[in-house]
Amino acid sequence: MSKKVKKAVLPVAGFGTRFLPATKSSSKEMLPLVDKPLIHYAVEDAIEAGVEQIIFVTGRGKRAIEDYFDISFELEYHLKYQGKEDLIEELRKISDMADFVYIRQKEPKGLGHAVLRAKDVVGDEPFAVILADDVIEAQKSGTAQLVEVYNRYHCSVIGLEVVKPEDVSNYGIVAGKEVEKNLFRLETFVEKPKKEEAPGNTAIIGRYIFTPAIFDELQKTAVGRGGEIQLTDAIASLSKKEVIYGKVLEGNRFDCGSKMGFLKATVEFALKDKQINGEFKNYLHEVIGC
Ligand code: G1P
Repeated sequence: MSKKVKKAVLPVAGFGTRFLPATKSSSKEMLPLVDKPLIHYAVEDAIEAGVEQIIFVTGRGKRAIEDYFDISFELEYHLKYQGKEDLIEELRKISDMADFVYIRQKEPKGLGHAVLRAKDVVGDEPFAVILADDVIEAQKSGTAQLVEVYNRYHCSVIGLEVVKPEDVSNYGIVAGKEVEKNLFRLETFVEKPKKEEAPGNTAIIGRYIFTPAIFDELQKTAVGRGGEIQLTDAIASLSKKEVIYGKVLEGNRFDCGSKMGFLKATVEFALKDKQINGEFKNYLHEVIGC
């Protein structure tokens, strides 16, 4: 019987330069959408798919992520003193979400390099990769949608979205044959091509399921676009040996690695927040005047 997806690798070592100076001394993954940091949504995305172990690939200045998923004795002591036991329980749920493992990526050599750092902890198992920048709001989490495909075919599966042709240079772009609605058998993979050179406008978004064979390809992958070891290049070599599927994900995706995407997500999540949505809607009417 084929193994289940129980592990997820979350690369979080990036500098978050698009959010400087906010990210000068803290991690971009800790930027909140209303009251939960981006990284919390990414972990929830994994847990909904049945993942039990979260492997963070971290770097310098990322201690806040470790502290977030740990127990905070001082804070709990303080809340107990204030009689806020319910809040303590809420916070405990965060550290109980999964088994958390931390690996350091000593140098920023790219997404492919970060994923390769998790090789020994993942071992000989299928695993998910989740990029916390991409927040997906859907009935079923992005990772869970991919795991469904993995459980049918036992092949690597990549999350996709059709993007505007002018945006292709921001993404890994793929092409292949549609085998059923929104499910592709992928053949071509290009990391951030120019618009004129792109094989289409179907983009990779930050959700992947891999067979462990990706690690051999990553080990052989040379430095690519931007002087970094690109995960997309390793996927392209893997596709010569194994079938790779791509699934256009259902739901709304927010690119929270960009200011506009982050602001859109903030507005959407605030409008859905039971505590503040009414007041927030009134405020928006006041500001925009409609
Ligand atoms: C990474 C990948 C790219 C993918 C994108 C999705 O790029 O390299 O293939 O399309 O994530 O968000 P990054 O956004 O980290 O530059």
